[in-house]
Amino acid sequence: MERMQDHASRPAGLNGNGQDILGHPLDRIDGPAKVTGTARYAFEGTPENIAYAAIVGAPVGAGRLIAIDDSAARALPGVIAVIHGDPRMPAGEATSRGMPALNSLHFLHFGQPVAVVVAESQQVATGAARLVDVQVEAAEGRWNPREQPVDRDAKIGFLPPIDIGDVDAALANAAVTLDATYTTPIHFPAALEPHATTAWWEGDRLIVRTSNQIAGSARNTIAQVMKIPPERVRVLAPFVGGGFGGKTAVGPEVILAAIAAEKIGRPVKIALPRRQTAYMVHHRSPTVQRIRFGTDADGHITAIAHESVASQNDAGSFLEPVPFGTIPLYAGAARRFRTDVVRVDLPETGAVRAPGEAIGTFAVECGMDELAEKLGFDPIDLRRRNEPKADPTSGKPFSTRRLLDCYDEGARRFGWPDRIPDPGSVRDGEWLIGIGMAAALRGNFTVNAEARVSVLPDGRAVVETDMTDIGTGTYTILAQVAGEMLGLPSDRVEVRLGDSDLPASAGSGGSYGAGSAGSAVALACEDILAELGRRMNAAPDELRLRDGCVHAGARTVSLADLLRNGKPIVAHGKAGPGKESQRTSQASHGAQFAEVAVNAITGEVRVRRLLGVFDIGRVLNAKTARSQLIGGMAWALAYALTEDGIVDPRTGRFVNPDFGEYHVAVNADVPAIEAFFVEEIDDSANPVGAKGVGELGIAGAGAAIVNAVYNATGVRVRDMPVTVDKLL
Ligand code: MOS
Repeated sequence: MERMQDHASRPAGLNGNGQDILGHPLDRIDGPAKVTGTARYAFEGTPENIAYAAIVGAPVGAGRLIAIDDSAARALPGVIAVIHGDPRMPAGEATSRGMPALNSLHFLHFGQPVAVVVAESQQVATGAARLVDVQVEAAEGRWNPREQPVDRDAKIGFLPPIDIGDVDAALANAAVTLDATYTTPIHFPAALEPHATTAWWEGDRLIVRTSNQIAGSARNTIAQVMKIPPERVRVLAPFVGGGFGGKTAVGPEVILAAIAAEKIGRPVKIALPRRQTAYMVHHRSPTVQRIRFGTDADGHITAIAHESVASQNDAGSFLEPVPFGTIPLYAGAARRFRTDVVRVDLPETGAVRAPGEAIGTFAVECGMDELAEKLGFDPIDLRRRNEPKADPTSGKPFSTRRLLDCYDEGARRFGWPDRIPDPGSVRDGEWLIGIGMAAALRGNFTVNAEARVSVLPDGRAVVETDMTDIGTGTYTILAQVAGEMLGLPSDRVEVRLGDSDLPASAGSGGSYGAGSAGSAVALACEDILAELGRRMNAAPDELRLRDGCVHAGARTVSLADLLRNGKPIVAHGKAGPGKESQRTSQASHGAQFAEVAVNAITGEVRVRRLLGVFDIGRVLNAKTARSQLIGGMAWALAYALTEDGIVDPRTGRFVNPDFGEYHVAVNADVPAIEAFFVEEIDDSANPVGAKGVGELGIAGAGAAIVNAVYNATGVRVRDMPVTVDKLL
């Protein structure tokens, strides 16, 4: 059986007559396995005869390889092999996503993999890697993006420039204008579980247990690089300790583990040490963003321009879509959005949580705060005046947009009306107190996803898809979707994920995983309901399912009885971007509020409160959705105040590629964070009516904090992060 998505028709089982489980704040069903250590991550578990590997990186930030002398490394007892010059690596040409340059002469960046050492223990592998003598001819590199010219011929990225109306004329004729430039630094997708892979061969089939967000696309990439058909690769990623975009692609450790396992005929493990993840995993591009607004005397926007410069190396094809969140955000007839790229000799830039919106909303929402002050308006009032009725760029109707409700509820809950607009007006001892707000927006996508659902003769259900759970709650919400549809408590639904042999899903990226995979599960269940209806001689919408029993009119039959023939009922559901995705403009929204205290003597900033109200369509699980949001807000706190990937412009090396010096937020930095929903099921988004939530929390929250710092101090910081030196 196979059920394809037909938008506009919400599966009958999701109309509130089912198990009453969807949306509930159910605890993670994988939680006990995680806290007891039985959940197996990529580096855990030791296949027999395992060998360990360590990667050798380019020792200079630009230049070319002359020779590799591996004699000292090979001489170390316990070393099994030193591998370099593998012919599968494209020679000379740049490869994507931190791929190893095993057969490449020119380095793309410092730390690019050039060899891998395999040994009987991790200690020997790591020690021997230091003995590999990489002889190079060093060169000057382009290590400072601010000094590089825009690459006018670049054909990369997915967001073409937009130019509507006459922005220059509208700005020239505006009653009030703002022209401000903001900068954002490199952000690392610093997942707690480092990138790791265990690879082995079973006959001619390659098995890769790896920490990756998208099992199916990882399988395809590995097959392509290894030059074998995809059916001969199996990717296992049942548990992933955070991804944040950094595990959307296949990194060099995956390919090197596979090559090494083949070469030595044994299973091989590689885990990137934290400092290597900075070089072998992509990071968020630093940006320079110019925001311009023109308004009439009443604060109606007549011109809006968001123009940016991001960076990329010669191999990368991704361009940070900086204005993505600005495009549908505010009204205004004249509109210009574009992002240019400069080329650098640094590790690849790529998608990091909320690519575009995370940093684009920082600039535009700080700009709105500055504009409100110029106009003498309350910042929420200015946003309210410029709330569009339809997408102001595409003209499409919004599917659902509850942004005004988010402002209202957020303002009330936060106590916004008590704000004193004059900066520096509120003091608490030596601390200056300020509050700020910002809008949050993240585009909503539904992508192709498939799932198989089986109802077993014992009355349990099994959900299978190659979807991953990167800490987001996928196991739990898919159990809830199936449980709701089939009338089963979630402990009678088993969810199997993270195996590329299972039906292909969206994977975890772009905040589309839950809506897409959840819809595939719901559609499969709808087919199962139709089959149950046939067996009951009842129409599917007459059925009521609860606690493992099917009710039709006055009749009640248990699922187990309906499967008396001993055969499971198996159905396959497929979801994807339906017609409504084309017809409507879709996004998740929110209003972010922050209260900060700035020490008047030292300039230290402490965030005292963060509060957000969010419009995410249907809430699939109130606990895991809230966790996604507060996690995003905590990250925004860090990028507003501390996260700053610094490149040494003399060498092309990172100054701070570890947690000792790249400061993510820790518990002591993070205050009470509150997140609330205004729930409205979005039937245009997908069959389950859920919009994206995983990336929304990071959008706008940084701007709310920086706007609060201004309200506290009167100092406008336009360069993230807001460190002490910029306030004193
Ligand atoms: Mo996301 S940055 O697509 O994991």
